Amino acid sequence: MKRRWFFASVLFIVSASLSLAFSSYSLPNSVTLRSLAEKRGIEIGAAVAIPPLKTDPMYPQLLASQFNSASAENVMKFEYLHPQPNTYTFNEADTLVDFAKSHNMTVHAHVLVWHIQLPKWLTEGKFSRDQLITILRDHIHKVVGYYKGKVQAWDVVNEALNDDGTLRNTIWLQGIGPDYIEMAFRWAREADPNVELYYNDFGADGFGPKSDAVYNLVKKLKAKQVPITGVGLQMHVGLGWAPPKRDVIANINRLGDLGLNVHISEMDVQTYDGARTEEEKLQKAANIYADMMSACLSNKACKSFTVWGLTDKFSWLPGFTGKPNSPLLFNTNYRPNPAYYALIDVLQNK
Ligand code: G3I
Repeated sequence: MKRRWFFASVLFIVSASLSLAFSSYSLPNSVTLRSLAEKRGIEIGAAVAIPPLKTDPMYPQLLASQFNSASAENVMKFEYLHPQPNTYTFNEADTLVDFAKSHNMTVHAHVLVWHIQLPKWLTEGKFSRDQLITILRDHIHKVVGYYKGKVQAWDVVNEALNDDGTLRNTIWLQGIGPDYIEMAFRWAREADPNVELYYNDFGADGFGPKSDAVYNLVKKLKAKQVPITGVGLQMHVGLGWAPPKRDVIANINRLGDLGLNVHISEMDVQTYDGARTEEEKLQKAANIYADMMSACLSNKACKSFTVWGLTDKFSWLPGFTGKPNSPLLFNTNYRPNPAYYALIDVLQNK
């Protein structure tokens, strides 16, 4: 009985706080990113961190009300899912998948092949090419098989390219050779015939040597009938370094012309530099968000728009840059930043 009262009170406080947060901007409760994105036929997602999902009551409430897609910010990375050679731990990732299912959200699973957040047994081990192929193939078969039918998409290969367009010198390139990329896609497809499979990278959103290299890579994969569904343009940008909207549109168009889907997969906007007052910073960030959403809406190939975190409170950026930042749609008090209203406006009116 006490327990029921406790949960009822928590729910009341959370709902009251959220409606207070939104009421000052007079949007009807029915108008959410989620409802508008559904009308426009795209997914709207956020990268999800498990600790606040479990312990911060406002977090799950806001997540499920505003977003219909959830990306795994960390919990599906190699070091979390496969911490020892013969040990897989799915509990935390299952929390995310279960939450998404019960709130009618899709899951964008991240990530199978990356060079960061790998377990020590892997990075410090000495493996022959054949052994590394077996390790990666088994990992992909196991985790894609485990989540078969439960997630909509996998980031299969992440950040395989350098800024100049050459292949990044990772454990996978060194140990297996450039073929690891197509092998990974084929193994993922073997484990789940229906899941969507993505190549995902940053700094390749507009035009330049890296985005040309991503284009050439995926074009080659398509020509070889490697099973790839699309490309994630991460869109980690800043007030002073966001690509022009016209370049992002042109990039989406050329990827779409290959028959690929495009996702804006990890958007955030660093705000510590590039404007003087806090208000100016937030407004400039809002304009960048609006441009990128409108670029996505300009081509049916762009099917999803995901922000890399729910609120500024848990963004990776302040810790990573050591600078104060308001990179996301909601601030540290879960109140909407101007960027939130900018996306509402584009989804509603443009
Ligand atoms: O695992 C420890 C945990 O045991 C400890 O309690 C905690 C305390 O701070 O630290 C934990 O590890 C951190 C982990 O996030 C989970 O919070 C790492 O130190 C930290 O480096 C790691 O950062 C993540 C980063 O990837 C790693 O490169 C960020 O949260 C995550 O947002 C970021 O996401 C990447 C995408 O996967 C790929 N694209 C770029 C994007 C931003 O860097």
